Amino acid sequence: LAPPISPEPASDSVESPPAPLGFAVVGAGYWGPNLIRNILRCDDADLRWVCDLDVARARKAIGRQSAVQVTESLDTVLDDPTVQAVAIATPAHTHVPVALAALEAGKHVIVEKPLATSVDDGRKLVEVAADAGLVLMCDHTYCYTPTVRHIRDMVAGGELGDIQYVDSIRINLGLVQPDVDVFWDLAPHDLSILDFVLPADARPVAVAAHGADPIGAERACVGYLTMPLANGGMAHVNVNWLSPTKVRTMHVGGSRRMLVWDDMNPAQRLTVHDRGVELSGTMNVEVRRDTLISYRIGDMVAPALPESEALGGVIREMIAAVREDRPAATSGESGLWVLQVLDAVGRSLDAGGALVPLPAAN
Ligand SMILES: NC(=O)c1ccc[n+]([C@@H]2O[C@H](COP(=O)([O-])OP(=O)(O)OC[C@H]3O[C@@H](n4cnc5c(N)ncnc54)[C@H](O)[C@@H]3O)[C@@H](O)[C@H]2O)c1
Repeated sequence: LAPPISPEPASDSVESPPAPLGFAVVGAGYWGPNLIRNILRCDDADLRWVCDLDVARARKAIGRQSAVQVTESLDTVLDDPTVQAVAIATPAHTHVPVALAALEAGKHVIVEKPLATSVDDGRKLVEVAADAGLVLMCDHTYCYTPTVRHIRDMVAGGELGDIQYVDSIRINLGLVQPDVDVFWDLAPHDLSILDFVLPADARPVAVAAHGADPIGAERACVGYLTMPLANGGMAHVNVNWLSPTKVRTMHVGGSRRMLVWDDMNPAQRLTVHDRGVELSGTMNVEVRRDTLISYRIGDMVAPALPESEALGGVIREMIAAVREDRPAATSGESGLWVLQVLDAVGRSLDAGGALVPLPAAN
């Protein structure tokens, strides 16, 4: 399991704080401004540069009055010794060249999901960062939401018991992407959450993928992943760009409790059900009278969870990982595992939905 995420900063610290970490953001399109806003809000971070090939976009992202510098030149950013960390929010196919240049310039790096567009490229980033002793973090944003942190803590603390199944639905009327299918677009979220919350004995060991392209987009627009877990349980992920409604739900069933996460219901995102099914005896038809199925129907609890922007947690975790010289909770390795699953998904689709083995966590 990844190390715990750094907590909210203590407000009553008596030691003098270390100097803020110097950041640059590369890519100021749709997602980059979210990184910019959260770095600017963080007292432990100092945003030095915003870099975009379209420099007007970089300027617009920080506002005309801001003292943050803008440029279209990555070299200018990387030559600045006050920049210690680079957050990359450029399109996926540019992640590797930009991240490699930043690592080779001695900068710590946050890369947007997906880490890269191939397993080999992702592994190269992980190796270069490790050899240079630099933090490589993948922005698996959901892992920094209070809900996912709570689920992870419940699983790790044994409150759910043995994990029996996970059912994740991520569907909406989405933009059909020009360069990736629905698995590469949406499933990294579900996969990174599974990587983050599931214990070693309940990790996915294989994947079978089925996809459909009913609109002739020449890529899967509707997709299903079936993943047997190491302990005999099952995880299932449904991703879809053609749904009339936006659904973001995850059910996690355990032998002690079951939980339902509905991310579209901010008033009650998480409910924990003290319910279960237990079987004693045998299910053999001949001796059915010896079989006892008992249903436990207990309380349902909705934990009070704070609302906080996940990207703020991403930035704080990056700073903590750099200061403590440790891997980030969503490290390059976790980004690589997601790529390995997506690669296996492609091979399963090519093989008509065959089950393809997955590597253990990196
Ligand atoms: N974590 C999340 O939930 C989340 C959500 C949305 C997007 N993303 C990821 O963020 C990344 C960016 O997505 P987007 O939707 O913002 O894309 P976008 O196309 O809106 O923006 C990308 C920006 O990068 C700039 N750019 C491209 N190549 C560059 C280079 N070499 N140097 C400097 N600037 C360059 C472009 O000019 C553009 O402004 C993608 O990897 C995407 O998967 C993550």
